Amino acid sequence: MTHLVVKDLTAGYGDARVLHGVGLTVGEGEICAILGPNGAGKTTLLRALSGMIRARGTVTLGGADLTGHPPDTLARQGVAHVPEGRGTFMPLTVEENLRLGAYVRRRGPELEADLDRIHGYFPVLKTRLKQAAGSLSGGEQQMLAIGRALMSRPRLLLLDEPSLGLAPLVTRELFRIVQAINAEERTTVVVVEQNAHLALGIAQQAHVLETGRIVLSGTAEEIRADEQVAQSYLGYRV
Ligand SMILES: Nc1ncnc2c1ncn2[C@@H]1O[C@H](COP(=O)(O)OP(=O)(O)OP(=O)(O)O)[C@@H](O)[C@H]1O
Ligand SMILES: [Mg+2]
Repeated sequence: MTHLVVKDLTAGYGDARVLHGVGLTVGEGEICAILGPNGAGKTTLLRALSGMIRARGTVTLGGADLTGHPPDTLARQGVAHVPEGRGTFMPLTVEENLRLGAYVRRRGPELEADLDRIHGYFPVLKTRLKQAAGSLSGGEQQMLAIGRALMSRPRLLLLDEPSLGLAPLVTRELFRIVQAINAEERTTVVVVEQNAHLALGIAQQAHVLETGRIVLSGTAEEIRADEQVAQSYLGYRV
């Protein structure tokens, strides 16, 4: 079933248009990878999907029209965005960051259950609850950022370069956890990633974005199998 439908999306900053009519669909419970060179507009696409910047076009999630709504409305509709640079509150503790992630929902006993759920995915966070987020390692901070996003029980999880600055081993572990979250919660995921190999390893489908346009779409296997694509856009040989 199609979950996220994006049609003819244009967005930018001031007079500078960055996205030029982007269209894509993501099935419910699927992982979709967005690949492409620096400056292609990948971050801008996620910002437009979470309402951080104004966009024109249409965005629907599970049939509900999300177009043009502010970020807090979209968060209530189930969109969680883990931005580039993670967006955790450094002076606050791990626990405070996690609890803040649930702000779009009513408080209640399920909040404690959700904290347990997050600790299940990221056991290391449980041992760091009273520690300031700013004192965590890069990998732990990325885990906290994803954990915080999960506290809102998202229907759509937007991840911007989760591997940025992390060691390969930590990145692989992180992607394994994202895959587990997707499998267990059926959360639809859109992941922007420079590490195409890793992203294609967990995604069902992928889109290559270049200068604000989608230049190639296909299943993860199709994109991986296209050697020319691999060389021109993904920066590696298959
Ligand atoms: N806040 C902003 N104000 C003005 N221009 C911006 C802003 N953020 C991004 N841009 C411009 O928009 C274009 C697309 O940037 P974007 O960050 O979406 O690319 P990206 O594909 O995420 O790149 P990267 O792989 O380097 O993260 C770039 O030309 C960039 O300079
Ligand atoms: Mg970016």
